[in-house]
Amino acid sequence: MAQRVHLLLSIIFFLTLIRFSSQQGLSFVYNGFDQDQGYIHLDGVARIHNPGGILQLTDNTTLQKGHAFFNRPFDFGSDQPISFSTHFVCALVPKPGADGGGGGHGTAFVLSSSTDLTQAYPTQYLGLLNTSSNGSPTSQILAVELDTVETAEFDDIDNNHVGIDENSLHSVVSASASYYSEREGRNKNLTLLSGDPIHVWIDYEDTLLSVTLAPLKIDEKPRKPLLSRNINLTAIFPGGKAFVGFSASTGTLVSYQYILGWSFNFSTSITSSLQSLDISKLPAVPHPKKKPKKTSPLLIILVVILALVVMAVLGGVFVYRRKKYAEVREPWEKQYGPLRYSYKRLYKATGGFNSDGRLGKGGFGEVYKGTMPNGGGDIAVKRLSHGAEQGMKQFVAEVVTMGSLQHKNLVPLLGYCRRKRELLLVSKYMEGGSVDQYLFQDDKPPLSWSQRVAILRDIASALCYLHTGASQVVLHRDIKASNVMLNGNLQGFLGDFGMARFDDNLAASATAAVGTIGYMAVELTSTGTSTRTDVYAFGAFMLEVACGRRPFDPEMPIENRHLVKWVCECWRKGSLVDAMDARLGGKFSLGEVEMVLKLGLLCTCVVPDSRPTMEQVVQFLNRHQELPDFSPDTPGIGVSVPVLRGIPSLAITYTSEISSPSISSSSANNSMFISHTILYGDGR
Ligand SMILES: *[C@@H]1O[C@H](CO)[C@@H](O)[C@H](O)[C@H]1NC(C)=O
Ligand SMILES: *[C@@H]1O[C@H](CO)[C@@H](O)[C@H](O)[C@H]1NC(C)=O
Ligand SMILES: *[C@@H]1O[C@H](CO)[C@@H](O)[C@H](O)[C@H]1NC(C)=O
Ligand SMILES: *[C@@H]1O[C@H](CO)[C@@H](O)[C@H](O)[C@H]1NC(C)=O
Ligand SMILES: *[C@@H]1O[C@H](CO)[C@@H](O)[C@H](O)[C@H]1NC(C)=O
Repeated sequence: MAQRVHLLLSIIFFLTLIRFSSQQGLSFVYNGFDQDQGYIHLDGVARIHNPGGILQLTDNTTLQKGHAFFNRPFDFGSDQPISFSTHFVCALVPKPGADGGGGGHGTAFVLSSSTDLTQAYPTQYLGLLNTSSNGSPTSQILAVELDTVETAEFDDIDNNHVGIDENSLHSVVSASASYYSEREGRNKNLTLLSGDPIHVWIDYEDTLLSVTLAPLKIDEKPRKPLLSRNINLTAIFPGGKAFVGFSASTGTLVSYQYILGWSFNFSTSITSSLQSLDISKLPAVPHPKKKPKKTSPLLIILVVILALVVMAVLGGVFVYRRKKYAEVREPWEKQYGPLRYSYKRLYKATGGFNSDGRLGKGGFGEVYKGTMPNGGGDIAVKRLSHGAEQGMKQFVAEVVTMGSLQHKNLVPLLGYCRRKRELLLVSKYMEGGSVDQYLFQDDKPPLSWSQRVAILRDIASALCYLHTGASQVVLHRDIKASNVMLNGNLQGFLGDFGMARFDDNLAASATAAVGTIGYMAVELTSTGTSTRTDVYAFGAFMLEVACGRRPFDPEMPIENRHLVKWVCECWRKGSLVDAMDARLGGKFSLGEVEMVLKLGLLCTCVVPDSRPTMEQVVQFLNRHQELPDFSPDTPGIGVSVPVLRGIPSLAITYTSEISSPSISSSSANNSMFISHTILYGDGR
């Protein structure tokens, strides 16, 4: 509603501003051309845009002209003084993408005896004249040109000039577009084809025609005009009558040329004053959007190069990730599918095998703690490096078999993952750590005697299961304190079974000597691993747990270096208790201590066949059976060096109720040892 009232008021306002009186004068004001368009004569491509009322003389079409005239002429007699003033705001907008390339051709303010300029040419003729009318007095044209193309034909000074044209495009006077800055006191250049609105004032007073320019932001007309020239209007317009208006043209170069507002006053007096334009009411200059540029070959090449770079980077990332998470998978592994972990999953679970999560480092590899997402629990991941792929199939089969072994005192093996030169084994994480930490590190509390015996029973039971309980005999091969893990309740778990084979290379056959010094039975180097060598290692472990001393301690004096020898020595001296761990503070059961130490010595007997089986060890530990009688002087007991050839054939013979391997000396024909037959009785 308010808008309509405003519209009505504006119409009244405009109407009152147009005054004609054929004798006294003519004046009008257009603050935009949305009103009183009926007085404007348009031709060519010229048009008024509604709403907004901007007068567009040319658009982006080539070789066009546009004219706009006020359709009433002003008359001047031959003798009376006349004057006129005009002020208009124009904008010459280059075609998008033509930056620097210019545009054409220009706009002119025109006084013409006729509104019909249809015979005129576009381009450098600016829609004013043609080749035949140019320069002819019959043309009856006076123009002020704002020329944006330098035309040599008309001796143009540059491609950004203002000129006064009398019946000819060869300007009588011209100057580069500039304005006088009152503030700076000097002339400043002005770019006509900038797209920014420009004020133009043209005054004709006392035969002097002057042209003044300024950018829109300057609101006062500068005192110094750009051009001044005496003009005899009567000579140009003998008829004493002229129309006022605008003309503009395009050539092969185009620009959008607009008139935003126009005020004009003609009077038959020596001066003329002017109704000023209301700048705030002028329409806005449309700035056409940049059309997507025709892609230059250079741009295409650049884009292609960029695309290649991006692809290379992405490819690199892909290859890097593939390499980072690469695994080795073979068809035969299908059957182990559920046990197979993806490397990525393990990588994420361990925080990229962060050294903060490293639990330990052994000769065979490193162990990392990890946490499976979504409450999958904590895991321990052992990274084993290996040289050859051969034998891998068999090994993985073994690993998987071990994964299927179930015993309450075995650390559960959850699965595996294979990469080039690397095998990863995933087992449950044991929060208690390993037994050796409790025995030798001060940051863990010492274990009580009953805890130690319980752990020994746990491990014995697990080892017994490996030797006899599973569908096939499984050798541990590397029993030692650091492979015995504890949970939060200090229950013992045997870990790492079968892993010792993995030392260095898979080619390590069952006969290769692997293990840890102090836990290795002497016959290992010759006859290889067997359940007997596991028993030997377990014996060493028993002594270690009871005495709180490593089976082999190179820092001790020579005679005490071997724990086995030293314990035996204590026994020989009649004080087995001296061998006990001082940290126990004497709190232990004497009978149990003797049993454990003697059983440890029996298990570490250098004569393999004299060692008990794990089944028997379990029986002894649980006191279901008494130890056989033997003394520190029994051959093979408490000995660490294989000086055995000379040991006389021994016949400590015990009766046994439970069946035990009845080994005769002849069965050990492959052994370098002289076989001893110890028959174990249950003593019950
Ligand atoms: C001319 O301008 C109009 C919009 O003003 C546009 O649609 C057209 O594509 C332009 N033509 C050229 C040749 O730039
Ligand atoms: C030039 O224009 C005049 C009118 O101004 C016309 O009579 C004449 O034929 C035109 N000449 C050409 C070559 O177009
Ligand atoms: C102003 O324009 C003139 C003529 O085109 C030129 O010689 C001069 O270098 C220009 N000055 C500036 C400051 O651009
Ligand atoms: C203007 O031109 C007319 C006609 O050519 C001439 O009669 C008159 O004297 C001129 N006026 C001046 C001031 O030169
Ligand atoms: C036109 O100019 C004359 C002379 O200066 C002046 O008397 C008249 O008021 C002006 N007309 C308008 C509409 O400004």
